[in-house]
Amino acid sequence: MALKTKSVWFCSSCGNESPKWMGRCPACGEWNTMVEEKVVTGAQASRRHEENSIGTSSRPLSLREIDSTEESRTTLQSSEMDRLLGGGIVKGSLVLIAGEPGIGKSTLSLQIPLHCRGLRTLYVTGEESARQVKLRAARLGGDGEDCLIYSETLMENILAEAKKTEPELMIVDSIQTMYTQTMESSPGSVSQIKECASMLLRLAKETGIPVILIGHITKEGSIAGPKVLEHIVDVVLQFEGDNTGAYRLLRSIKNRFGSTSEMAVFEMTGTGLREVLNPSEMLIPMHGQGLSGIAVGAILDGTRSFLIEVQSLVSSAAYGTPQRSATGFDVRRLNMLLAVLEKRAGFRLGVKDVFLNMAGGLRVSDTACDLAVICAVLSSNFDFAIPSDVCFAGEVGLSGEIRPVSQTERRVAEAARLGFSTIYVSSYGAMNHIPENIRVVKVPDVPALCRTLFRSGQ
Ligand code: TYD
Ligand code: MG
Repeated sequence: MALKTKSVWFCSSCGNESPKWMGRCPACGEWNTMVEEKVVTGAQASRRHEENSIGTSSRPLSLREIDSTEESRTTLQSSEMDRLLGGGIVKGSLVLIAGEPGIGKSTLSLQIPLHCRGLRTLYVTGEESARQVKLRAARLGGDGEDCLIYSETLMENILAEAKKTEPELMIVDSIQTMYTQTMESSPGSVSQIKECASMLLRLAKETGIPVILIGHITKEGSIAGPKVLEHIVDVVLQFEGDNTGAYRLLRSIKNRFGSTSEMAVFEMTGTGLREVLNPSEMLIPMHGQGLSGIAVGAILDGTRSFLIEVQSLVSSAAYGTPQRSATGFDVRRLNMLLAVLEKRAGFRLGVKDVFLNMAGGLRVSDTACDLAVICAVLSSNFDFAIPSDVCFAGEVGLSGEIRPVSQTERRVAEAARLGFSTIYVSSYGAMNHIPENIRVVKVPDVPALCRTLFRSGQ
């Protein structure tokens, strides 16, 4: 039977489908994102749809009837990866590892079979030849006896191979290079990505093979070929940070089998990615140098507590409108903190340019970092170096009050462990246990902070 095809338009940002071209996607509101693609219609399409459905029960079941034994997990022989996934990779799950080109996705995914001896793995590569993978494996230092390298991009062949070899883990690098014959459009298009991902999902659910998918990120920072991919997969791990430095952050932004607020740090070395078990080490690089404009904040990210260096530069504004720029921190929150300093503590920062930077390329959303941010700004403004054994944990309110933050005790304990002698926290929170080797200074508001830290109340 001849295939019937028609043109439809997909939004390359959110995957929304429309029968005609539109300047603005009605679903996500983005402009100029609709791209034309050919799709198969009619009987063929609906049959394919049925083939791809993942339902296994033929009738509705009451919750009591459903088997609720723990999902079985396989360890990836990496404490950080296992923690991110919630204790190992779940059987039959589809995991997406997303990141910009060159950040280390292929390296990380090839390290898994090299470290897991005895785990039969099918590594499908659509980007590199088998020889290139071999060279990379040699660089990473592993023999990978139980890893089969398969250089292929046609989904039908890949599925047939997976069913034949029955691996215990399958890795697909990358989803953007895969294509299926049932679609007219070229590899990397929205409909191909959607279709290939759902074929892999069906394979994973049917056979119980866990599948790790690699996905690229567009310049704008979204997963290329788009949000639909995030909806299809069970887990999304996203690389963060710039790929020029040695450190890479891997964050779990979706996890159907665990927590989503987990983050792991890796260091790119000459022989692959190394787990950084103590991230504070890399996040306070200038510690003890006596520089002004630097303050250390005790923050929490997911279930981890660590210290991070906040750098700031305050200079006279060259133009009428002062510049405000923040890397790794919300610039609107920075503006709010500056307004609080202006109004409640009388600093004339309105005529100054303010630049802010978080060490290590980390993006900080914990409001406990507020106190370190204002201290870094004030330190640069006065050109007064904050003693290197002092750190901060507190949220700043609109009235200039310093508010308590969650789990203060854990932050204090981490600061004490790293040898800080003093930590500034809010006066309003209660603490039960304080380690002996650290002094906790409680401050109620911004003016009081300035008096104690900078010994001036101007
Ligand atoms: P890669 O995993 O190919 O990135 P992606 O698949 O996300 O595009 O990583 C490529 C970068 O990592 C490249 O710039 C070289 C560097 N690299 C190392 O520094 N050490 C290593 O051992 C390896 C394998 C790569
Ligand atoms: Mg790659």
